[in-house]
Amino acid sequence: MNYKNICESVCEIARSTGLFIKEERQNAILNIETKGSNDFVTHIDKASERRIVDGLKKLLPEAGFIAEEGTEDVRGDKFNWIIDPIDGTTNFIHGLSPYAVSIALMEDDKMVVGVVYEVGLDECFYSWKGGQAYLNGKVIEVSKAPTVADSLVATGFPYSNFSRMDGFKESLDYFMMNSHGLRRLGSAATDLVYVACGRFESFYEYDLKPWDVAAGAFIVEQAGGKVCDFSKGDNYIFGREIIASNKATFDEFSNAIYKLMVK
Ligand code: IPD
Ligand code: CA
Ligand code: CA
Ligand code: CA
Repeated sequence: MNYKNICESVCEIARSTGLFIKEERQNAILNIETKGSNDFVTHIDKASERRIVDGLKKLLPEAGFIAEEGTEDVRGDKFNWIIDPIDGTTNFIHGLSPYAVSIALMEDDKMVVGVVYEVGLDECFYSWKGGQAYLNGKVIEVSKAPTVADSLVATGFPYSNFSRMDGFKESLDYFMMNSHGLRRLGSAATDLVYVACGRFESFYEYDLKPWDVAAGAFIVEQAGGKVCDFSKGDNYIFGREIIASNKATFDEFSNAIYKLMVK
């Protein structure tokens, strides 16, 4: 398989879907439904996912789909697309950036292509197996900051699963006082690619779904960063907890999260 060619086609699909999302946002009255407490979906999320799925089907007919809005729920034997049509729907509803189209291709259980298109700033982040990581055609790398004290740290707040709030609140206190600062952008896919290009040193969040993290986590690794779950294992796509950071702060950062949120 030519992963580079596939990645280029996925970038086109993500960009054209981003344009569609922008136009629809201006033209239409938002039809907002609630999937669970504070988990919103609009008719534009659904229409965007339909467009993405139709485009990807032509590209690789044998692949299955794991897609947030459930447009197509068929698993492929070898290849599966993992799709979030709009990551950051709450931002999108409120007319706020960032929000992003996130598409990953998984071969067996490993990612081989990842694309995150952040619509507001027109920034396409992408990588393929065997390639480097890119932002709009330029190679990107994680930051070289050496310690957590030199880091800008990103996180996200859970919508409904507040079961780990004690440790999470402690972690907010800790990073507020022991880093350059904490940010909550509202789009996990964007948080991850911002680690990949060095805007953030690190990111952590619990209760995320595979479509929030699959593409972004792959791009972080391809940009020289590291990704793990809160126990420093590799169950971060389906395991609902993720840590991503540059290489230099990875041990210090993941040890801190482990102490604060697991132990
Ligand atoms: C959400 C965003 C947000 C994160 C939420 C996700 P959605 O995705 O990634 O940053 O904090 O947990 O569900 O629902 O806007 O696609
Ligand atoms: Ca959602
Ligand atoms: Ca999402
Ligand atoms: Ca979404």
